[in-house]
Amino acid sequence: MSTAPRRVPRWRDVEPFLKARPWHADPVARRLARTHSIDELEGEARRRVPGAVWDYVHGGSDGEVAMARNRAAFDRVELRPTAFGQVASPDTSTILLGRPASAPIVFAPTGYARLSHHEGERAVAAAAAGAGLPFALSTYATTSITDTALAAPAGRNWLQVYLMKDRDVTLAHLAEAREQGYEALVLTIDTTVTGLKRKDKRNGFNIPPELTPRTVAGMARHPGWVAGILTTEPVRFATFPEGSDYSRWGMSNQLREQAIRPADITWLKDRWPGPVVVKGVQSVTDARACVDAGADAVVLSNHGGRQLDRAPVPLELLPDVVAAVGDRTEVYVDSGVRSGGDVAAVIGLGGRGVLVGRAYLYGLMVGGRRGVDFVAGCLVDELQRAMCLLGTPDIASITTDHVRLREH
Ligand code: LAC
Repeated sequence: MSTAPRRVPRWRDVEPFLKARPWHADPVARRLARTHSIDELEGEARRRVPGAVWDYVHGGSDGEVAMARNRAAFDRVELRPTAFGQVASPDTSTILLGRPASAPIVFAPTGYARLSHHEGERAVAAAAAGAGLPFALSTYATTSITDTALAAPAGRNWLQVYLMKDRDVTLAHLAEAREQGYEALVLTIDTTVTGLKRKDKRNGFNIPPELTPRTVAGMARHPGWVAGILTTEPVRFATFPEGSDYSRWGMSNQLREQAIRPADITWLKDRWPGPVVVKGVQSVTDARACVDAGADAVVLSNHGGRQLDRAPVPLELLPDVVAAVGDRTEVYVDSGVRSGGDVAAVIGLGGRGVLVGRAYLYGLMVGGRRGVDFVAGCLVDELQRAMCLLGTPDIASITTDHVRLREH
């Protein structure tokens, strides 16, 4: 056995490996610089907002089984490369609802975004537009349809609709969205009643709110968050007229149409010139019914595990739905998407694209607009790297050959 000759260590041998990282005086830049994935961002986000806000955004309904299964399904994904097809800079761009997007990713509708950060939906819409991705504004948004469009005039803005019992209220949403150049409607069909989130109940985070002293104390521990909320317009359901019952209690089950029928899809199609997407589809039968009623796309979703607990896992449902209606409609998946590799898996199994909700809210919590920019950049970057390594030069070349769902 030969022994390497010893010598005295020299500073100049070590020095090149010890470059100091740039220190950012700005806390948002500092936090984002130490974050390398949506999972890490989640950890940063949790520290930035009061516990009750965190519980609302992060939580799932009942026992949170659906929420856990959504993630577990993505963990079962095996991505299978064609090593000899590798490409250096694959093209992540695609066509969603007939128009180009920089990647098969849509920012999902989420309620109450201004509770995550006072910049709220304006920041999300602007970041989505900047990244070349569509954004679907929620009926339960805390920024109006018009103000959101003004924040992202060049964006692909979609409007999520919950049909209201008073159809005139829904028609007013459609009229405002049309006036402001919104491109598509996303009808949510899985919210007959709002799922019960036990933590929200404990925190008094209901409609109407019954905040507990503990919840208020939790808010007081986040003075930056409180200052942001108190120095900007009051948080309300801003798609409804100010001062109306809807503006205050818009999310209550009593105001929303509770029984959605396929005929309601046709009703919307008759009143909206652009595409109508139906979100919350959880079976092959319902997917067929949506397409027969005129839906231009369906989103397989269990609402991020926030509605019916133990509902089917969208990723697992995807292949059957694609086989049944994939030639007639675009099929999207949400609930549990957390990385570019997840996006690649959905595409490989036949999906047109994904929707992400919580991920961008975590970005919002950490850094407002800049945090959401980070999320878009992170997901697209991860998708591109996955495509490099899979050997798929473009979105169309990701196929079932590249994805398998393992048993465990
Ligand atoms: C939720 C409703 C707003 O999931 O969609 O909280």
